[in-house]
Amino acid sequence: MKILFTIFLFFISFFFLLRRRSSKRLPPGSLGLPIIGQSLTLLRAMKANTAEKWLEERIRKYGPISKLSLFGKPTVFIYGQAANKFVFTSDSSIIANQQTKSIRMLLGDRCLLELSGEDHKRVRDALVSFLKPESLKQYIGKMEEEIRLHIEKHWQGKQEVTVLPLMKNLTFNIICSLLFGLERGIRRDQLVGYFQEMIEGMWSVPINLPFTRYNRSLKASSQVRKLVKDLVFEKRMELEQQGDPHKDLITCLLSIRNGKNQEMLTEEEIVHNVMLIMVAGHDTSSILITFLLRVLANDPAIHAAVLKEQEGIAKSKPAGAPLTWEDLAKMKYTWRVAMETLRMVSPVFGGFRKALKDIEYGGYLIPKDWQIFWVTNMTHMDENIFPEPSKFDPTRFENQTSVPPYSFIPFGGGPRICPGYEFARIETLVSIHYLIIRFTWKLLLPDNSFGRDPMPVPAGGLPVKIMPRNLDSLTVY
Ligand code: HEM
Ligand SMILES: *[C@@H]1O[C@H](CO)[C@@H](O)[C@H](O)[C@H]1NC(C)=O
Ligand SMILES: *[C@@H]1O[C@H](CO)[C@@H](O)[C@H](O)[C@H]1NC(C)=O
Ligand SMILES: *[C@@H]1O[C@H](CO)[C@@H](O)[C@H](O)[C@H]1NC(C)=O
Ligand SMILES: *[C@@H]1O[C@H](CO)[C@@H](O)[C@H](O)[C@H]1NC(C)=O
Repeated sequence: MKILFTIFLFFISFFFLLRRRSSKRLPPGSLGLPIIGQSLTLLRAMKANTAEKWLEERIRKYGPISKLSLFGKPTVFIYGQAANKFVFTSDSSIIANQQTKSIRMLLGDRCLLELSGEDHKRVRDALVSFLKPESLKQYIGKMEEEIRLHIEKHWQGKQEVTVLPLMKNLTFNIICSLLFGLERGIRRDQLVGYFQEMIEGMWSVPINLPFTRYNRSLKASSQVRKLVKDLVFEKRMELEQQGDPHKDLITCLLSIRNGKNQEMLTEEEIVHNVMLIMVAGHDTSSILITFLLRVLANDPAIHAAVLKEQEGIAKSKPAGAPLTWEDLAKMKYTWRVAMETLRMVSPVFGGFRKALKDIEYGGYLIPKDWQIFWVTNMTHMDENIFPEPSKFDPTRFENQTSVPPYSFIPFGGGPRICPGYEFARIETLVSIHYLIIRFTWKLLLPDNSFGRDPMPVPAGGLPVKIMPRNLDSLTVY
């Protein structure tokens, strides 16, 4: 009964909202069915990797700015370099970073994605104090250890592996170890189970009825929250017994104090942001490493150049010595290949903002409280920005100034640009270093396509045949 009433209310407010605005110049386009709008069409197109075509069709039909309804809210879709700049750099009194209802309910309303102004700055500064290069430097060894363990357990002695699930496993383990200091064991495995259930609902229509995707994910989310809360409690006890404040992210966050010697973040903020980082920090980089391995299998010239760079670094070091910050700085070509991979297969399809007041944009009205939808692919595949956009060409990134601002946006831009950039760079480079030196691999499925779920998924999860390489002088590997 309550649900029917809610839906009824929703209908009423939805139509009311439309009527109130109808006198002004809204962008063209239809809002579709209430609540569901075009969400299912978009999700279906993403699965088939035709979402860009779907958007291009919209652009042909309605022009560069159009309205639609996604995940329960009226939305304006805009694209292009100017649109990106507008989304990423507008004042926080005009545009807020509110995510869709599903994301907000699953991760929590005190996570960075939901905060703006002073709150955003305070929480972001706290996270960045851990994620900035100077402090990540001291964690390279820990990442390396996870990667070596991973190879030993999942690659060594195998003839075939499926790359995507393995990379998710690896990046999740790295996150657990670095950010939470959570060692392997029952609790990690429990967390993984709930966590996977939770993220499946991130791009779901927020209808909370039994058996909906959203409902299952909400349940899982509250389990994750409980586990993370327990972890925070334990970390606080450890810290009080003179533990090392730099041990992991949670401990770091607990030890940051404000002027009055109080904890800088509330417990709720710590829990919600830990959940955000679990999602933001493992789903994305696992996709990058997976597609990088596919590029390396498909293109012998690029493979040879990356191998040469990595072997050069390995040979320049004493036997068994761990990788250093300086070694990573030398992996310039490898990182360009990664950037080109991010351009062509951006893990993040796009994102949402919310208008805090009526905004005039491109001659149209974006009404207060509407969502704004931005998309990476539309500039990444624009031939005026990246000539021959379908060609894989890492040399595009040799000259950084030749890539115009706000057009290469796999990490977003402006004050909310992804703070995990360095983290992702380190784990990607270290993984590629060990994998390319120790193995060669061949694709078992010739299919080069992918679908979105909403993260890109290569056909079959990318099964490959692997062969150990003859290491000769590199016995330490
Ligand atoms: C290849 C890997 C990654 C990609 C492609 C990526 C991409 C992005 C994008 C597109 C955004 C949204 C920007 C916006 O809405 O304007 C973002 C935000 C964020 N990312 Fe990443 N990310 C990656 C890795 C990571 C890692 C490893 C972490 C943490 C360890 C992380 C933590 C975050 C956080 C906390 C935010 C929110 C920032 C804010 O709202 O101020 N990301 N990322
Ligand atoms: C990784 O794989 C191991 C062994 O196959 C499994 O026990 C563990 O739960 C997996 N972890 C993740 C994060 O998927
Ligand atoms: C899932 O739906 C049922 C039935 O409407 C509801 O009782 C339950 O609270 C929902 N679960 C969550 C986590 O919201
Ligand atoms: C971008 O769109 C094109 C089609 O318009 C598609 O072939 C390509 O795979 C897309 N890339 C990403 C990152 O989704
Ligand atoms: C880099 O690109 C910019 C802009 O396209 C150009 O003006 C400059 O000459 C280029 N520099 C090099 C070293 O190629």
